[in-house]
Amino acid sequence: MSNDSFVASSKNASVEKGEFTWEAPSNIALVKYWGKLENQIPANPSVSFTLSNCKTTTTLKFVKASEYSLFNQVKFDVYFEGQQKDSFKPKIADFFERIYKYCPYLDSYEFEIHSENSFPHSSGIASSASGMSALALGIMSLEKELNPEMDDDYFYKKSSFLARLGSGSACRSVQGNLVVWGQHAEIERSSNEYGIAYPYQIHPVFTDFQDTILLVDKGQKQVSSTVGHNLMKGHPFAEARFSQAHDNLKNLIPVFENGDLDKFIEIVEREALTLHGMMMSSSPYFMLMKPNTLAIINKIWEKRAVSKIPVCFTLDAGANVHMLYPSQNKTEILEFIKNELVGYCENGHYICDEVGEGSKLL
Ligand code: PMV
Repeated sequence: MSNDSFVASSKNASVEKGEFTWEAPSNIALVKYWGKLENQIPANPSVSFTLSNCKTTTTLKFVKASEYSLFNQVKFDVYFEGQQKDSFKPKIADFFERIYKYCPYLDSYEFEIHSENSFPHSSGIASSASGMSALALGIMSLEKELNPEMDDDYFYKKSSFLARLGSGSACRSVQGNLVVWGQHAEIERSSNEYGIAYPYQIHPVFTDFQDTILLVDKGQKQVSSTVGHNLMKGHPFAEARFSQAHDNLKNLIPVFENGDLDKFIEIVEREALTLHGMMMSSSPYFMLMKPNTLAIINKIWEKRAVSKIPVCFTLDAGANVHMLYPSQNKTEILEFIKNELVGYCENGHYICDEVGEGSKLL
């Protein structure tokens, strides 16, 4: 599907007013997206588990503007957890500007965006994936009102496409429990433009895999993802890294099918450490792990060796640790966290999550 197929056909604004509320989850990448081209086209394909508990709920209210506002200027106000939040406006204005070409009806309306997250604001968990995805879905609900013939396939593809223009990884928060984004030779229909639900067999062990997020550092990210992705431009190891991501995704295909957790662990942990390795070897260089991140990783390795429980970790571009394990080991792993890992978490905080199904219209 080319970009042009996502341009809404007219400026039709036949709907007077309305509102839609969407809930969209966060996601955790197993093969990481790190490095991009123009317009959030990823430098390599990625795959993620969709989460269930960490999510954003966004109500998009719209009313037809009394007279057309400035061409290409979308009028909106943003409320976060009940409070007007002008500081969120520039990022959203930027988003509207980027998607205007595909949604030319936007400047015929005035919007109110009401958002809240299920996870604490300063938890070090980025809300851009869930937030941009929930907003994109709300916009597509309006577009579907304007064009009722739209089918579900187009609705979700374009939602993911718009979400990607807001924040790359947001395109993996729309639909499916395992989501691939970025063209891959062995994954049919995979696309750089939007995320797709992983199209092959998924072993039952992965359908309720657990992700417990140990909050080592709840502060603002030390390196924004925009800065981070740019560090891959001219990085001496960039090409090798991009090709490794293709190989890792290819090697995960049989793992997703047969549930080989040893192989899963090897690929997922190497991906996390490579992401951090890229940051440690870029110019300028960054160290995003904290001493407690390393302490937790060592504890996980020790636990795995002793108990033989297939528990592993992954990391985002920060110090928090995502512990991944099968649901049948939940009791023992949560005991282990309470007894041996909470001391490494800021204020003893951690968040229990698991694989979920994607967004929901409320
Ligand atoms: O979507 P962005 O631009 O915030 O980038 C996300 C990058 C990582 O979280 C580090 C990896 C990923 O694939 O989610």
